Amino acid sequence: MTRHATQPIDGQKPGTSGLRKKTRVFMQPNYLENFVQSTVDAIGGLRGKTLVLGGDGRYFGREAASTILKMAAANGAARVIVGQGALLSTPAASNLIRQRQADGGIILSASHNPGGPDEDFGVKYNSANGGPAPESITSAIHKRTQEISEYHLLDAADPDLDSLGETPLGEMTVEVVDPVSAYADLMEMIFDFNALRDVFKSGFRMRMDSMCAITGPYAVEIFENRLGAPAGTVTHGTPLPDFGGMHPDPNPTWAHELMDEMMGEDAPDFGAASDGDGDRNMILGAGTYVSPSDSFAVLAANAHLVPGYKDGLKGVARSMPTSAAADRVAEALGLDCYETPTGWKFFGNLMDAGRVSLCGEESFGTGSDHVREKDGLWAVLMWLNILAARKMSVAEIMADHFARYGRNYYSRHDYEALPTEQAEAMLGDLRSRLGELKGTQVEGLTVESSDEFSYTDPVDGSVAEGQGFRILFEGGSRVVLRLSGTGTEGATLRVYLERYAPGPDGLDHDPQEALSPIIRATEALVGIRERTGREKPDVIT
Ligand code: G6P
Ligand code: ZN
Repeated sequence: MTRHATQPIDGQKPGTSGLRKKTRVFMQPNYLENFVQSTVDAIGGLRGKTLVLGGDGRYFGREAASTILKMAAANGAARVIVGQGALLSTPAASNLIRQRQADGGIILSASHNPGGPDEDFGVKYNSANGGPAPESITSAIHKRTQEISEYHLLDAADPDLDSLGETPLGEMTVEVVDPVSAYADLMEMIFDFNALRDVFKSGFRMRMDSMCAITGPYAVEIFENRLGAPAGTVTHGTPLPDFGGMHPDPNPTWAHELMDEMMGEDAPDFGAASDGDGDRNMILGAGTYVSPSDSFAVLAANAHLVPGYKDGLKGVARSMPTSAAADRVAEALGLDCYETPTGWKFFGNLMDAGRVSLCGEESFGTGSDHVREKDGLWAVLMWLNILAARKMSVAEIMADHFARYGRNYYSRHDYEALPTEQAEAMLGDLRSRLGELKGTQVEGLTVESSDEFSYTDPVDGSVAEGQGFRILFEGGSRVVLRLSGTGTEGATLRVYLERYAPGPDGLDHDPQEALSPIIRATEALVGIRERTGREKPDVIT
């Protein structure tokens, strides 16, 4: 008996990156099963197909993997390639899908959200190109969840997820693979590992904070085993189901241990952190924090120094709220630069069509066309390789970059867990006034234009509307506002602030100070404090 009757469950709507809910919601009877079967139905079934499966090791991941394997078998899949212990970082999963020419994959993760029975869980479907499913598929999945009446699940014992190799599950083959080696091999093909080994031999000190999440085993293998960095270079290197109580989001607020060390006395030369599923990164030098938008611009400007990109880049793309720092690099290098909505899935078509090699987002995401996800350790290796080639410190590279291209002062202010109605009313009100803002003078700034971002994909012509409010001020400053699509509690308002300083003077201010007129102007125009009663943002990046 593989057929099980079920009924639609409300709210199974994938967000910016898959379906994310409280873990206990996912653990309810039929919840996971409904969503997975809807995914299977929406992609035209699994008969004869090969899938990749794995996740970031968070609580409920193993149980979910067993259920999905039994469902895949009952739905006629030929093979599922699963990371040992149901582990796979998101970029490693993307790599496996591509390398093994699988038909797609399922990633069990809520990315940078905390894990545990009272925290978050998530399920995401990736397509055969290795990238997150496009909106056409995620909407089809959502539609299917509203009409589903049965799912298929093999009545069998839980498959062994720990022994490497192949075992049958019904008619299907379960292939358990080492989650790390194929990914580490790929990194070895892109970067100059010999030069990096020399860097560590010369006494270069690095701290990689894996935040008790999935990159631990990958980082130990790459930095300590293959590149010879001293043992202990990787901290919080064992993936734990609750991330050791950490909030595995690599930003100054949540990676504060690393921040303290890098801003303290006798700081290592280079510091980095990654998130729950290994696709995000934060970059630090001794006494230096590199904002994600700047990091992306530096990678674009220096990519030619890395063997994998020695022939130059095809083009670059960034999400709309990301600063325009990379645009200036693209202009100088004569590269096309695309501006997409928030969400890595929007980069997939551009990479598949050979239009861009590097993509970046302000949300601590950077990656390239080596996979179809953003890639935390790849970004760390890019920086290492650039530091090795230029023989400069992180601070020197930043100063040189700003002197050459000017500086886009940038910060994001997050207001978390706002009552959804309140947040929507605030932005609804802004929407109704958007057309009248032009010419408004506030805090010494004049509004030049304002709109709601919509995107037409240049490859397939699909249109994504309502992707964030933009208020541009004369002189190149701007504020962008949008609601997060990844939160699981109420609404999270993100306010993205940017101001361009062309230089040569005024390049080394504190970003919050440099942005203070825009922060005040935003309050005057939107009234966040007034309407929410919040005195200050919960997270500042
Ligand atoms: C996920 C996606 C990213 C996106 C980020 C921000 O991490 O993979 O591409 O930038 O979410 O999402 P949010 O909607 O919370 O701002
Ligand atoms: Zn992530």
